Amino acid sequence: MGESQVVVGLSVPDGARPAVVHTYRELLPLLRTGPRAVVMTMGALHQGHLDLVAKARELMAPVGGQVVVTVFVNPLQFGPAEDYEAYPRTLPDDVAALTGLGVDLVYAPSVVDMYPAGPPLVRVSPGPLGAVFEGAIRPGHFEGVLTVVLKLLQRTTPTVALFGQKDAQQVAVVHQMVSDLDVGARLVVVPIRREPDGLALSSRNRYLDPAQRQVALALPRAIAAGEAVAAAGGTVMAVRAAAWAEVADRPGLSVDYLEVVDRAEFTPVLDAWTGPALLIGAIRVGSTRLIDNAPIVIQATSGGGPGA
Ligand code: PAJ
Repeated sequence: MGESQVVVGLSVPDGARPAVVHTYRELLPLLRTGPRAVVMTMGALHQGHLDLVAKARELMAPVGGQVVVTVFVNPLQFGPAEDYEAYPRTLPDDVAALTGLGVDLVYAPSVVDMYPAGPPLVRVSPGPLGAVFEGAIRPGHFEGVLTVVLKLLQRTTPTVALFGQKDAQQVAVVHQMVSDLDVGARLVVVPIRREPDGLALSSRNRYLDPAQRQVALALPRAIAAGEAVAAAGGTVMAVRAAAWAEVADRPGLSVDYLEVVDRAEFTPVLDAWTGPALLIGAIRVGSTRLIDNAPIVIQATSGGGPGA
């Protein structure tokens, strides 16, 4: 950092490697009183994760707060047929990627440190949000997510927790938990980071071969097409049709869902809906699942815009 850019209260000098701890016992004495931001991840860090870290630092720098990144591949949120064992574990690379970003602390616990008594008997139920879309396709997923998120919030006691819009339904269930269970952290949501060709960054993109990678682009194209129709004043039906046109009858992919939903409840909106909504999609390319979304605003009902 140049001398002209003085940032008040930064606790970590530029270029510094974060402290890395693997147990709750080591973590506790390193947590200072005062503001703290936490970024929870499963590792295999990419620029999408690093955007959350940059936002955390931006929020903490002026107030002298700590930035904590957690790295934990949470077995509770993977189904029996999912990729828990195969999920990439790259902690040395992750710590290298976080070096110089103003991160104070990396907490990378083992499964035993996180769940010392074995799989927890008491878990956080996501309610109706846990039963639709991602929750319908991945039974138990959001229960596993909320349980580990609550535990990580209890252990790191942040004032701010950052999540990516990439996982829009995860954001919605975490918001619901924070609101329903009086969790004292403020949530900050960071926009989706994409590759230049539009594909949302994901740790699972590495499973795609070059041909599958091209097929996968149908998903961001579908989201972008729906977004464009909404921005031009199209109806819910027109947005849906534009999005579906990009993925229908494409060899090499199958669509799990592509729908316009209420931003908080994740219920499909009525055809006559106007106002804020969310276009969400999930496809499979080979054995890889990809998700994407965009917040949209529906301005028109029938007779309104070009799509009406
Ligand atoms: P993970 O998939 O590693 O993602 C960690 C955080 O990074 C999440 O908040 C996710 O939404 C965000 N993120 C991932 N890709 C992104 C992208 N392309 N643009 C912006 N943000 C992105 O989500 C999880 O881990 C886990 O469920 C977790 C919350 C850590 C609980 O185990």
